[in-house]
Amino acid sequence: MDKLLFLLGLLHATLIHAFPTPEEIGERIPFGDRAIAISTDLPVTTSYSSALLSSLQTATATLSPSLTGSILTGLPNGGNSANPLPTIPVSTPVGSLAPIGTTLSPGSTAPAAPAAPNIFVPMAGDAPPQQISTRADHPVEKLGILDENVPIETNKFYANFFLGSQTSSVWTHPYSLAWAKGHGNTWGMAVTHVERSQFAWDDNTPPRYFIGPIGLQHIVFSAEELGKSTTLTTEELTAFSVYANLAPSSDAPPIISIPCVQGMGFVTALYNGAKPLLNSGTFFRTLKYVDQLNGGTTYKYQIQLEDNSQWLLYATPSASLGAPPFELQDSATIVGPEGFVGTIQVAKNPANSAGAQAFDSAAGAFAVNATVSGSVDGSTGSYTIAWGKDGVVSQPLVMFTLPHQVESFDSKTSAALTDISLVTTTKGYARAIVVKDSITMLEPNLPTSIGFSPWVPAGNGGNGGSEHNILTPAAMTAVNSAGALELNEDMDTQTRLNSMYYSGKALSKFAGIIYTLQTLGQNSQLAAAGLPKLKDAFNVFVNNTQPLPLVYDSKWKGVVSSGTYQAGDSGLDFGNAYYNDHHFHYGYFVYTAAVIGHLDPSWLDQGTNKAWINMLVRDYANPSSNDPYFPFQRSFDWVHGHSWAKGLFESGDGKDQESTSEDTFATHALKMWGRISGDANMEARANLQLAVQARSLRNYFLLSNNNTVQPKQFLPNKVTGILFENKVDHATYFGGNAEFVQGIHMIPMNPSSAYTRPQGFVKEEWDAYFSDGRVDKVQGGWKGILYANLALVDPQTAYNFFSRSDFDASVLDGGASRTWYLAFCAAMAGQSLNIAEIAVVGGEVTAPSVKGCSHS
Ligand SMILES: *[C@@H]1O[C@H](CO)[C@@H](O)[C@H](O)[C@H]1NC(C)=O
Ligand SMILES: *[C@@H]1O[C@H](CO)[C@@H](O)[C@H](O)[C@H]1NC(C)=O
Ligand SMILES: *[C@@H]1O[C@H](CO)[C@@H](O)[C@H](O)[C@H]1NC(C)=O
Repeated sequence: MDKLLFLLGLLHATLIHAFPTPEEIGERIPFGDRAIAISTDLPVTTSYSSALLSSLQTATATLSPSLTGSILTGLPNGGNSANPLPTIPVSTPVGSLAPIGTTLSPGSTAPAAPAAPNIFVPMAGDAPPQQISTRADHPVEKLGILDENVPIETNKFYANFFLGSQTSSVWTHPYSLAWAKGHGNTWGMAVTHVERSQFAWDDNTPPRYFIGPIGLQHIVFSAEELGKSTTLTTEELTAFSVYANLAPSSDAPPIISIPCVQGMGFVTALYNGAKPLLNSGTFFRTLKYVDQLNGGTTYKYQIQLEDNSQWLLYATPSASLGAPPFELQDSATIVGPEGFVGTIQVAKNPANSAGAQAFDSAAGAFAVNATVSGSVDGSTGSYTIAWGKDGVVSQPLVMFTLPHQVESFDSKTSAALTDISLVTTTKGYARAIVVKDSITMLEPNLPTSIGFSPWVPAGNGGNGGSEHNILTPAAMTAVNSAGALELNEDMDTQTRLNSMYYSGKALSKFAGIIYTLQTLGQNSQLAAAGLPKLKDAFNVFVNNTQPLPLVYDSKWKGVVSSGTYQAGDSGLDFGNAYYNDHHFHYGYFVYTAAVIGHLDPSWLDQGTNKAWINMLVRDYANPSSNDPYFPFQRSFDWVHGHSWAKGLFESGDGKDQESTSEDTFATHALKMWGRISGDANMEARANLQLAVQARSLRNYFLLSNNNTVQPKQFLPNKVTGILFENKVDHATYFGGNAEFVQGIHMIPMNPSSAYTRPQGFVKEEWDAYFSDGRVDKVQGGWKGILYANLALVDPQTAYNFFSRSDFDASVLDGGASRTWYLAFCAAMAGQSLNIAEIAVVGGEVTAPSVKGCSHS
């Protein structure tokens, strides 16, 4: 009797509902109103016979299986091909800016405190300020998206499902999914797992790239009802999950729904009254029924493919009793029962019986969504990813976790690790855990002591570090004269540009100069002379009177540059209108605002300054999934530990990111804006995020010789270059020079650089690429970036470079200043700095107090 009740309780059914059309902005599809939702109250209508159960079914492949797939060696189009260093030279000003008679009264730079127990506290959810007009005609259509009138994530892992052909892969890691749409003669959803031995490698030493083959179809979830008219729709699109639905035609309801969650241990398909077809391009060799689990709720089968891989299949039927009959019809086809209602799950099992045991223990349950929460306490923090569960919810979940997560698990989560490990394409080996519904990661070294000033990490690899504000008198002189000259540049021409990226960089450059003069140069009267110029230049953007104003896109919901609407070129401003790079672009503005707000706290309350900045923050780093105007955390991926720069462009290799340093700078900007604007939770989130980024970077992107995550033969490249979901390419979108490929992970040098770029790594990279005079062959702004980066390990040589009397300002990137570089190098060197040459700037020459150390 107990058993029967248990059984009935676990029986699943599916109900079809009409698609809701929420009228109100911000309304989400309520749970249970999905196209295929699980219910427990369908009557049993079928009882399966056990005819097929005892035999091992085998098939002989008559064609050769497809084991190689195809690769994309080129870089995708989509807005990234411009050089991040502006090509228009900065015209040298005549003379220096004169100090004025007043000084600044900066506000405190003490951390804002205290933060809430869960630091993901929503910001104000009001509309963008009035000067930002709204447009509903974004050029990219929401292809097959069923969620209506809510913010849609543009930079998350599943975007290929609603972009372009809808057939490019989606990586949940270690699996990927792709809608077959006729490829391989099937219309279902292909599940793929690629082994490292299948990667394609560039021939050079070290190889420039490695790529996972695409187009492989290990197991395809299909149905007899699917064919040429099949459509793919998505619903419940969140930061970590989406349901992908397949319907026989655009006017028929879906018959298969696949909840896709990053790290899912099974790929699970919910079937609603369809005849399952499982296909394989790798070909089935055997199919075997094994046993029933969960008191007869779930039935287990084993599949061997022609590549010798072992897969497990679990069927949990609703409205029927007995093991659903699956018949191995031929090497490419397994056929299930007519009108099947219930779930079918598959998992690749690399670990024999220990693996099977772990998968069995979680069979029937599956994750359908996830949320992140976090807390900080002093310089330690933790965050938890908790999954929403469906199916046999009394079962635990099996989930795959990435190396940087495993490295930072708390003890309870570590204890849940299994022997199952499957390689991902670009994040090393994923480890499976079996947990009730969550994992927790600890970050013991939050960058709480980092502020606006140069920051030096504690020695001997210890935690923490300190700000360095005291320069030697000679360094102070150099900084001040460089600052007086640079502040006399025409800020308006450098910042009122048709690009949010280049404008933001230039604004941040001037902000850095003024901060440096005030704090490290101790020259408040000069800083006071510069600040009004910066405020005016910044105001152009707050007022939205720049050449290409921002607009609020009410279709996807976000703030984008209007240039693409006018010119039709999706690549304009690095693809800003298509949601590329928003954290890069807006991070520079947020940083600038933090500096202005620090130097003049009254500015924070003037006009719409604060609302305008918070609009940018909400656009790229919104802490709330209930904000009607912006999606949750557009850029940052709390599972991968870094952001994805690619927006609404279909991409064969998935999302990608090039500049890890502009990613971390954008977080540094959030941290400082949170601090200065008094949002302790924003500051805490950014501290935690920066800690996670630093960890993710050293696992995947910045490759020390002792890195154990990325393939060994790739490590001599020292950085990934562009990291996609499916490819690592030691390249950039704008050229292959070493200073581009390495330097794009350095730019802009800022206080958090010393935190995210470990000294040992910087030294190894320097020796591999730029030592022995190679740096001096580099042209333009990249040369300055390389030397500023050198300050992390050899500040004296770096200082000597920037303080040369024959210093050539063409080595400064549009976001970089000599003032900040000098202060940065001098502060990193501390009181041991030798002043070899005194800068000849602003026409003023000061006698050198020479002590050896000349620049060579
Ligand atoms: C996540 O999934 C669970 C289980 O289906 C559901 O109860 C919950 O409402 C979902 N949460 C979100 C944020 O969608
Ligand atoms: C910005 O707008 C305000 C209010 O309309 C105006 O006073 C100010 O002059 C404008 N500033 C710029 C730089 O356009
Ligand atoms: C690996 O090398 C880096 C760079 O030299 C160093 O910072 C780090 O401590 C090393 N890690 C281990 C685990 O030895």
